[in-house]
Amino acid sequence: MATAIAVRPISKVAAHDFARDLDLTDDELNYLLELTERVKRAPSKFTRALSGKYISLLFEKPSLRTRLTFELAIKQLGGDSVTCEGPVGAREPLKDVARNLDRWVNGIVARTFSQNTIEELAEWSSAPVINALSDMYHPCQALADVFTLREQFGELRGLKLAFVGDGNNVAHSLMLSAARLGMDFAIATPCGYAPNAEIVSQAEGLAALAGTRLEVTSDPAEALAGAHAVYTDVWASMGHEQEADERRERFSAYQVNESLMSLARPDAVFMHCLPAKRGEEVTDEVMESGRSIVFEQAENRLHAQKALLLMMLG
Ligand code: CP
Ligand code: NVA
Repeated sequence: MATAIAVRPISKVAAHDFARDLDLTDDELNYLLELTERVKRAPSKFTRALSGKYISLLFEKPSLRTRLTFELAIKQLGGDSVTCEGPVGAREPLKDVARNLDRWVNGIVARTFSQNTIEELAEWSSAPVINALSDMYHPCQALADVFTLREQFGELRGLKLAFVGDGNNVAHSLMLSAARLGMDFAIATPCGYAPNAEIVSQAEGLAALAGTRLEVTSDPAEALAGAHAVYTDVWASMGHEQEADERRERFSAYQVNESLMSLARPDAVFMHCLPAKRGEEVTDEVMESGRSIVFEQAENRLHAQKALLLMMLG
């Protein structure tokens, strides 16, 4: 008879939802990184952890990585998912959608245009809601990214992460995660595309507490000086496609190419959440270079989200 493999009990998160990065405490964030490591190393130990659990995936916007890694994570943990594509709350109020879903499923993963949609679902659903990207945050991406950096450098404390480009959802989530893990963070954006002032102020508070540096500038050279990792993302995020031409002009000095990379540390890695627009925010040369860790990031989406699901629903 097969014997059950002993799995150490998983610490649960205190917050009901993962709507924003700061819904995880510092301790929970650190624990999640440890658990991601365990899950990545020994996936077979967790294959029944979500047995009998069902999760609904709501996607208002396209996705390759997030959708597939959530579907795979849920299946590999022994659970199952159902997916709904298209606008959430167009046919009926969000509070009704939330109170339908929570009668059927144990958790909701939602990618929405507006952060308000995530928050309203979270307010009305008794099942936990996980933010799979909104206009304000991409917290699951940031989890995988900091885990990837830890894998690359061994230790996060003392690293400098530089983001060049649009002050967008991905930048916000990275900014909020960096200081809590002891990293300096710098962001260079063209004027008019700076990150949200309220999120910057939150991140400044976290940096002051942690004794790390947060720089917000329009000068890529300033942001890249001393950086261990250079991160960029598309110039026009989903929902801003109509501004793409204007943004291409405004952002041209912010393209991550070999010359920009040379302003960072010689051992600096290149990061991108993907999908990337080669020839715009990054050159093909940098994407394909030995410094690029974009596919490690993509792989780690799976492992980090498994750890998150275990902590929220396991
Ligand atoms: N990085 C990321 O979230 O990719 P998708 O849009 O393909 O999910
Ligand atoms: N900032 C991008 C990230 C895509 C994963 C967007 O919101 O479209």
